Amino acid sequence: MTRSAIVGTGSALPARRVSNAELAERVDTTDDWIVERTGIRFRYIAGPDETTATLGADAASAAIAAAGLAAQDIDLIVLATATPDQTFPASATKIQAMLGIHDCVAFDVAAVCSGFLYALQVADSMIRVGAHRRALVIGAETFSRILDWDDRATCVLFGDGAGAVVLQAVADDAPNGILATRLHADGRHNGLLYVDGGPSTTGTVGKLRMKGREVFRYAVTNLAAVMTETLAVAGITSADVDWLVPHQANARILEATAKKLGLDPARVVMTVDQHANTSAASVPLALDTAVRDGRIRPGQIVVLEAMGGGFTWGAAVVRF
Ligand code: COA
Repeated sequence: MTRSAIVGTGSALPARRVSNAELAERVDTTDDWIVERTGIRFRYIAGPDETTATLGADAASAAIAAAGLAAQDIDLIVLATATPDQTFPASATKIQAMLGIHDCVAFDVAAVCSGFLYALQVADSMIRVGAHRRALVIGAETFSRILDWDDRATCVLFGDGAGAVVLQAVADDAPNGILATRLHADGRHNGLLYVDGGPSTTGTVGKLRMKGREVFRYAVTNLAAVMTETLAVAGITSADVDWLVPHQANARILEATAKKLGLDPARVVMTVDQHANTSAASVPLALDTAVRDGRIRPGQIVVLEAMGGGFTWGAAVVRF
């Protein structure tokens, strides 16, 4: 029997970093309001030559290098994104071409901010059944392109970026590996966080729309529930968790969720202040940050979680 283990992480950000004060020059907002309500201080905004695929490819290259592998070792690419370069082909195939891989399986997964958790379970399952041995799981987004810059309640919250992990098949009794994943969706709420366009409806890309208060309310409840469920499947409790790497939507959601689980806030990896909400990229971006700065070490138990439009939500328990 095999399972999969995370053997390398990487991330990439656009060149341009934008502070709240810079944003306040063109949007009716203040640094104080944004920091107090969300914890966000900066976000990165993609330039014309930076796309979901270029950012995703850069993050993937860094993850492959961290794993000590070559691009040709990869036999599966799963990209989580809600902002693909084009409606089709899948941006995963653009990333594949940029990496110089000419024959592997490559496709996109759309679950918005939960996309990385969805992509992780898909790739983990494909490795468990023996179809693949080394997978790239990428979350990459350019939400700046779908923001309504006249809607101050949403445009201050999001940023662009990418994160990636390399999953490798390991024996079931290996010291490291993905111990459990759980996913959920409840489409009754798909009018609370959505884009008001698309190829089959308006024929346009559309802009992000959100009822922030309602989303906030559901987020804490759903995230605490799915983490409790996933920890139980892994056969551990929150006391065993070394690090929580949550979706970085809002510092207040992160704090409230950790509190509900009885987790020490010092064990929560928080990057929302630096990156804002990068949707599917936020979990692997935060994970790579904490791996590279030495917080996450081999043998430790790490919990990943996210919730996003749909609603979709999920969690994973990983031993590094
Ligand atoms: N700057 C200044 N004022 C702003 C503002 C901004 N950027 N955005 C909204 N406001 C104002 C509103 O106009 C409103 O003013 P009013 O009372 O005069 O009408 C006031 O602030 C409160 O707005 P409201 O939307 O009720 O604020 P809130 O306390 O709910 O905070 C969010 C807004 C978006 C920060 C909060 O709802 C939230 O974090 N929701 C979750 C969103 C999320 O994380 N989504 C992604 C999940 S993947």
